[in-house]
Amino acid sequence: VTVDWDTSDYGTDGHRHFMHKEIAEQPDAVRRVLKGRLDERFQTVRLGGLEMDAREMREFRRVKILGCGSAYYAGQAGAQFIEELARIPADAEPASEFRYRNPVIEKDTLYVAVSQSGETYDTLVAVQELKRKGGRVIGLVNAVGSSIARECDGGVYLHAGPEVAVASTKALTNMMVGFALLGLHLGRIRDVSPADGRRLLQALTALPEQIETILADEEQLAAVAKTLAQAPSLFFVGRTRGFPVAREGAQKFKEISYRHAEAYQTSELKHGPLALVGPDLPTVAIVPDDELLDRNLGALQEITARSGPLVVVTHDGVDLGVTSAHVVAVPKSEPELDPLLLTIPLQLLAYHAALLLGHDVDKPRNLAKSVTVE
Ligand code: AGP
Repeated sequence: VTVDWDTSDYGTDGHRHFMHKEIAEQPDAVRRVLKGRLDERFQTVRLGGLEMDAREMREFRRVKILGCGSAYYAGQAGAQFIEELARIPADAEPASEFRYRNPVIEKDTLYVAVSQSGETYDTLVAVQELKRKGGRVIGLVNAVGSSIARECDGGVYLHAGPEVAVASTKALTNMMVGFALLGLHLGRIRDVSPADGRRLLQALTALPEQIETILADEEQLAAVAKTLAQAPSLFFVGRTRGFPVAREGAQKFKEISYRHAEAYQTSELKHGPLALVGPDLPTVAIVPDDELLDRNLGALQEITARSGPLVVVTHDGVDLGVTSAHVVAVPKSEPELDPLLLTIPLQLLAYHAALLLGHDVDKPRNLAKSVTVE
């Protein structure tokens, strides 16, 4: 059974494309996923849909996240968030791989399926396989009542609203927020202090306005996109928290601009990919203002020394020490939440590159909004 949104009254509302509308809707989408879930009194979050009490939640020794495409990248960011905050080993794997490799299912692992449509066949089959083997699986799903949501033992609805453009934007952002909520929930029933809980609640509450600030810089992002659109090939690089951001940035860029875009860990550049860096290969570097800033700045020097064009997505106030780069600065959040805001400008870079290249932004060639077949 496929549950579709009733999109009959869902138009582009004066935007040129659904993708543009959905990018613009993100502040409200984030407000919705947070609504009623922030518990200021106990500095935690309430996730009633999980249908598990604190005692059950404490027993998990590992978290395994499954999704496809951008949902998998959101899962990678989510795994880092959960591991960093709740100190539970966590990782993400494409559901499309997991379902074929006869994985070991452990009863003290919390499995999390993540999907916008709730109908992605690979993710659905992975959930069914997990349940058949007795795994405990929850869903982070956008489409209410969808197949994946119904198969899961409980979950967190993402409330991003209908998403029509093939390139996911607001649903992906809400997936990251959903993982932040889950991580905080798991963390606060373990060792995260009330003070850290408060710090993260405040950071979550600030997100919608911070996203508005980023979106207000669209003109600048369109100008930067112009410098990237004609390049036949691009690198997107980031490390640790920045790496899922780089992967998602490359994914969005190739989906709608049809340019070759490849993501690497910045730390891996010198182990091979640096050989390709030169005047014809732009790099989009994700450089958060965090404990790895100096190392990232070193990598920027390596790229500019080889005359590689650079776009740096960083935080307000960071001194990059390179003069030739296009700099895109986003407001600072709490470090654990950095992937969220750093991803937003990459959506607009991809959008404007595709627009300049004259592509069908909402319906890129060869792709479907949700892959419901084998
Ligand atoms: C995102 O821009 C892509 N269109 C694609 O990778 C998508 O995220 C993937 O197919 C998973 O879809 P889902 O979230 O509906 O499960």
